[in-house]
Amino acid sequence: MKLSKEINRRRTFGIISHPDAGKTTLTEKLLLFGGAIQEAGAVKSNKAKKGATSDFMEIERQRGISVATSVLAFEYKDIKINILDTPGHKDFAEDTFRTLTAVDSVIVVIDVAKGVEAQTEKLVEVCRMRKIPMLVFINKLDREGKDAFDLLDEIEQKLHLKVTPLSYPIGMGYDFKGIYNIWEQNINLFTGDPRKDIEDTIEIKDLATPELDELIGKDAAQDLREEVELAQGVYPDFDKNAYINGDLQPVFFGSALNNFGVRELLDCFITIAPPPLPKVSEEREVRPEEEKFTGFVFKIHANMDPKHRDRLAFVKIVSGKFERNVPYLHVRNNKKLRFSSPNAFFAEKKEIVDVSYPGDIVGLHDTGNFKIGDTLTEGEQMHFKGIPSFSPEHFRYINNADPMKSKQLEKGVDQLMDEGVAQLFKLEINNRKIIGTVGALQFEVIQYRLEHEYGAKCTYENLNVHKACWVEPEDEKSEEFKEFKRVKNKFLAKDKKGQLVFLADSSFSLQMTQQKYKNIKFHYTSEF
Ligand code: G4P
Repeated sequence: MKLSKEINRRRTFGIISHPDAGKTTLTEKLLLFGGAIQEAGAVKSNKAKKGATSDFMEIERQRGISVATSVLAFEYKDIKINILDTPGHKDFAEDTFRTLTAVDSVIVVIDVAKGVEAQTEKLVEVCRMRKIPMLVFINKLDREGKDAFDLLDEIEQKLHLKVTPLSYPIGMGYDFKGIYNIWEQNINLFTGDPRKDIEDTIEIKDLATPELDELIGKDAAQDLREEVELAQGVYPDFDKNAYINGDLQPVFFGSALNNFGVRELLDCFITIAPPPLPKVSEEREVRPEEEKFTGFVFKIHANMDPKHRDRLAFVKIVSGKFERNVPYLHVRNNKKLRFSSPNAFFAEKKEIVDVSYPGDIVGLHDTGNFKIGDTLTEGEQMHFKGIPSFSPEHFRYINNADPMKSKQLEKGVDQLMDEGVAQLFKLEINNRKIIGTVGALQFEVIQYRLEHEYGAKCTYENLNVHKACWVEPEDEKSEEFKEFKRVKNKFLAKDKKGQLVFLADSSFSLQMTQQKYKNIKFHYTSEF
């Protein structure tokens, strides 16, 4: 009974957006509602400062901040909210994709003036494919931006979503008067005073009431009536099941900076967003209410102190109770481990906890046992699915620059790959090591961290690879596959798990290869 109560009061989600849309600001305002922080400015942005994208000291600084903001938990109206941080910078997109495997829903933030931007498209696509419930927050209504209908259209077209507005703006920018909350049927007038953290709302059950004309003026009232009527005609009614199944996305308008429309978003969110959901493993589906504990590692964070090489593995609890000092099975290593100081996260601090429930994230100190994707259970041999590697876009040979330190280099590269910083491939013909990354920034990160954390030096050598694809033959013994391996020998490598990868040197050659070898599949992610 207690377990199901704890499960039902948890909401674990991520906020995704293109950099600068207002993710950090919104997170901070949400925390204010939870009373988790006292003042604005307490959550530091871990995005790369403008113009400093290639400065790895900046990356290091952010790494420090991002430990603190990896998970932000707080209580609001007896709901335990866990916000998982998702880096906005595109070079760290893979981190974000992995974090999305641990959320039960997301909030998408869109800038009213810029509309749908590139990074939003990519991240929403991942959520759409996984059918993650999404709520949209259109931000910066205090500024001039696009017309609400145009924006809703743009969201439907570019993001391939089906939207329904649950609030509607009254004016915009200089003329911004407030928001009509369709969900709660009330009006919230904008005073432009960000210090007011709980705004006054005026209940308006019927938009026809003359009170509306008095509140916002005749013209604005008439516009609002017409537009809301039109919106309700054009867009489907809100349907909770459709939202939970990822088939319908409710939209809210507001201004995070002015703390306007944020409470409405949060109140609706805690009502409709799903509690922790079941998760599939290779063997079976696991439900959160199951008594026995299971969980999986979705993120590993290296210690900032180079003298201590221990790391923090972030585990999402899928079922049962996680308890301190109880031995759990690390399935991949087939080893029992017990954790004397598991960390739980509250706002921006972490504390040792005795018990955690499904939906929660615990940080476990690790000396190198964990890899991203690892499963922990009470003894069951089970493997959670769903943390694929993505086809990298940048490739370089990695060479040892200090022959005396080859052991350190090997260990460092190994551990950084386990953390998911990049992927390592070994060429079939000569065993040369290739690092593949999603963003160019990672090469600097790796070089810097190898030197500072492992005392090893590396150099890179360019390599002409357009895309790495995981290869899946219909029949391993076919003549076709044998010929493919012989002819493409130079372009074949193995990933860390020993899976075969084709390194295409151009999109043309990839196309030609796909056409020629019709019974071989080429995948862009490692999970197929
Ligand atoms: P991000 O995490 O998505 O990258 O965005 P962040 O919250 O850092 O916001 C990006 C910029 O947009 C910030 O300004 C922030 O103050 C501003 N902003 C956020 N919400 C609103 C809003 O509702 N209205 C307006 N007008 N601005 C908003 P900045 O100048 O880039 O940074 P800062 O110096 O204020 O920190």
